[in-house]
Amino acid sequence: MFATAATLTTPSFPQDLVEAIYELKKELNAVILAHYYQEGEIQDIADYIGDSLGLSQQAAKTKADVILFAGVHFMAETAKILNPDKLVLIPDLQAGCSLADSCPAEEFAAFKAKYPNHLVISYINCSAEVKALSDIICTSSNAVKIVKQIPPTQPIIFAPDRNLGRYVMEQTGRYDMILWEGSCIVHETFSEKKLVQLKVQHPEAKILAHPECEPPVLRHADFIGSTTALLKYVIDSKAKEFIIATEPGIIHQMKKAAPGKTFIPAPAENNCSCNECPYMRLNTLEKVYLALKNRAPAVDVPPPIREKALLPIQRMLEMS
Ligand code: 13P
Ligand code: SF4
Repeated sequence: MFATAATLTTPSFPQDLVEAIYELKKELNAVILAHYYQEGEIQDIADYIGDSLGLSQQAAKTKADVILFAGVHFMAETAKILNPDKLVLIPDLQAGCSLADSCPAEEFAAFKAKYPNHLVISYINCSAEVKALSDIICTSSNAVKIVKQIPPTQPIIFAPDRNLGRYVMEQTGRYDMILWEGSCIVHETFSEKKLVQLKVQHPEAKILAHPECEPPVLRHADFIGSTTALLKYVIDSKAKEFIIATEPGIIHQMKKAAPGKTFIPAPAENNCSCNECPYMRLNTLEKVYLALKNRAPAVDVPPPIREKALLPIQRMLEMS
């Protein structure tokens, strides 16, 4: 009997996918790192769940031979830059990032050339090529801390997120920073009007926002921080209700860490689910299994780029 196209292309999955993932993980000596924006079932099988900084720190110190990065491409790329000799897998190679895409390396090189005396601080949500053009990398949890360490006489370019850039300006007083005009489609989707309406319905709720949100949303926030900082806030807070203005994947951990509390995702402009990151959501448990089974897709960074991109990442890890 001839195999049909379907039998050739449709992978078969074991009945107990989670158990099969654990077995493959042991066989490969692999570690699974997952971002808070991943589906709950992926977070539940991860060895470490965290924000971009925490995940980079874990990637820098892992003893595993294989890293399965349940996140988006720039995160897996960062892990590969830190671990050139390890196999770094990503469940779906198409899991990109609108913010990273908003800063093409060639255009950024031309932009940077206009400011030859400026120090380039780039948010980790950028390609390896843009990292290679940068002096220091930062994440949403250490951007303010890093900019505060730069002498006031040293001019700065901050890329690629204009919203995080503006927030850092306000927190540090460095209004002279030159910003690249990039943004995240997910964090720019929140509606200020709907957020205010929601707050009227839930007057006791605290509004928590990620600094990638636009200024009109941030102005209403009781607390602004990275995903890890938002999680810590809900654990420590006496409040019982929270409106969450970031990707709702984080709510999975919030519910686990603070079971008696209520979490309301901040509404998007058009009643759509645009607050879910379409790139993060490309990853599934099935794709995690297949990536470990096939040892693919793997993320690679060409050596010249990798060597240049490593230095600004190491500076970030030292300055954090
Ligand atoms: P953090 O991981 O720093 O919280 O940033 C969130 C994000 O947008 C990752 O893409
Ligand atoms: Fe990129 Fe935004 Fe998705 Fe984060 S939420 S990965 S910044 S598109």
